[in-house]
Amino acid sequence: MSSSASLLQMKGIVKSFPGVRALQQVDFDVRGGEIHALLGANGAGKSTLMKVLSGAYTADEGAVMIDGTAYTFTQPLDAIRSGIQCVYQEVDTALIPSLTVAENIMLEKLTAGSRWIDWSGMQREAARVLQELGLTGIDVRRQAGELSIAQKQLVLIGRALAQKAKFIIFDEPTAPLSNEEADQLFRIMDRLKKDGVGCIFISHRLAEVFRISDRITVMRDGQRISTKLAADTNAGLVVEEMLGKKFEEEFPKAQVKIGGTLLEAKGLTSGTKVRDVTLSVRQGEIVGVVGLVGAGKTELSRVLFGADPLDAGEIALRGKRLRLARPADAVQAGLALVPEERRKQGVLVELPIMANLALPILKPLSRLGFVGRGREAANADARIAELGIQPANKHQLVKYLSGGNQQKVAVGKWLPTQADIYLFDEPTKGVDVGAKSDIFRLIGKLAEEGKGILYFSCEIAEILGIADRILVMSYGRIVKELSREEATQEQILYYASSGEA
Ligand SMILES: Nc1ncnc2c1ncn2[C@@H]1O[C@H](COP(=O)(O)OP(=O)(O)OP(=O)(O)O)[C@@H](O)[C@H]1O
Ligand SMILES: [Mg+2]
Repeated sequence: MSSSASLLQMKGIVKSFPGVRALQQVDFDVRGGEIHALLGANGAGKSTLMKVLSGAYTADEGAVMIDGTAYTFTQPLDAIRSGIQCVYQEVDTALIPSLTVAENIMLEKLTAGSRWIDWSGMQREAARVLQELGLTGIDVRRQAGELSIAQKQLVLIGRALAQKAKFIIFDEPTAPLSNEEADQLFRIMDRLKKDGVGCIFISHRLAEVFRISDRITVMRDGQRISTKLAADTNAGLVVEEMLGKKFEEEFPKAQVKIGGTLLEAKGLTSGTKVRDVTLSVRQGEIVGVVGLVGAGKTELSRVLFGADPLDAGEIALRGKRLRLARPADAVQAGLALVPEERRKQGVLVELPIMANLALPILKPLSRLGFVGRGREAANADARIAELGIQPANKHQLVKYLSGGNQQKVAVGKWLPTQADIYLFDEPTKGVDVGAKSDIFRLIGKLAEEGKGILYFSCEIAEILGIADRILVMSYGRIVKELSREEATQEQILYYASSGEA
């Protein structure tokens, strides 16, 4: 870090929403050439602070200063002009899918109002930017809409550099990435750092935070709790500061008697993503399906739920063959799915928390076709308490919740259904360590009630903690079955990367 490095400071930032004091006098700063991690439980105010910094929100009070000069951002363009860029978690909305990679990277030139555009020069320039990042694998003439999430992120970083970013905000960039993709992102962040760019990094995965960060700031309930050198703190301390109490990250595993077979699937095949999958789930059993990102876990969960068609194979519940033409058939038969992409499939963001939580259980809540408001409200209060959904206000629209709290709603709405089989696809993505334990406890409770559970995840530690039996998936196939007793991290990794395309 040289003495000439730029310094970005936020001082006394206050931001309120109706009923919520999201930020209370928050100070935060980042220097050129460092990676500063911003941590906190779901709803702590991280994304809000970054939205103030990137001009998406205007603060009620406080100042943003770059090298001592105060700025007021009233729109994202103001922040961009001052050298601040944000790689949002929902990268999909940040790129224009119908434009090429080059056009997306050089967007500023496109929109600058000049009538004459040098297309080939623009492509060369975009390619040069990507090359500087060490990215040669992305063809700048491709349409942005065709790229993977990881590639879209990289294009966004490319755009930030093309627009001369001095500071880049990364809000949970690794949540949707595979380990390799995350490693590539970290290499690029390292490079940015060497070029003097200041990076702000938000993540709920503490291991990666400690791996790449220079400094760590912890927030809780809209306030800054601490800022320390990463070398001067540790995961235990950080979690304590985040939650305001001592806490051991744990995956509580209840001892449950495992009963008869509930679900049986034979030879399931769907396109190239699910190939000849045979599995069974018994009463009270938690079956973990583990595999790398892209192994076909989500596709398998969708096939079992009737959301994707079967090319071959059969599914039976309690010995009775199921015909699942659509998800409604699966729900009718006694299956529940908590899907991975919460914003697209898991929750209706324009509706309040209460309505979202009631959706899967409208039948039991209704008498003679009328939904009992009292019971709907009681159900919402129970789930809000169980999962610690913040704000604890059942009338709040889901779109105003923090990312992790939206995920809690997506999980919570399925808990009181009278399903026999629960499919959980990466349910802990984006939730903080405390909420993760809550979700595990609730899944354990379902098992105690005799439900059968399929838990899909690429987090090996979670699978080892929660599953009675583990199925390792690779290239659409189950390549290995392991009992809870025999499974180890190394073994799972070995089999997960062993399959053939
Ligand atoms: N537009 C909004 N309207 C109302 N409340 C909001 C709005 N945006 C954020 N909030 C509230 O502000 C608080 C902080 O939310 P924020 O999104 O900053 O949390 P976060 O730390 O990013 O959490 P997560 O880890 O879950 O992403 C939450 O209580 C949230 O519900
Ligand atoms: Mg957030």
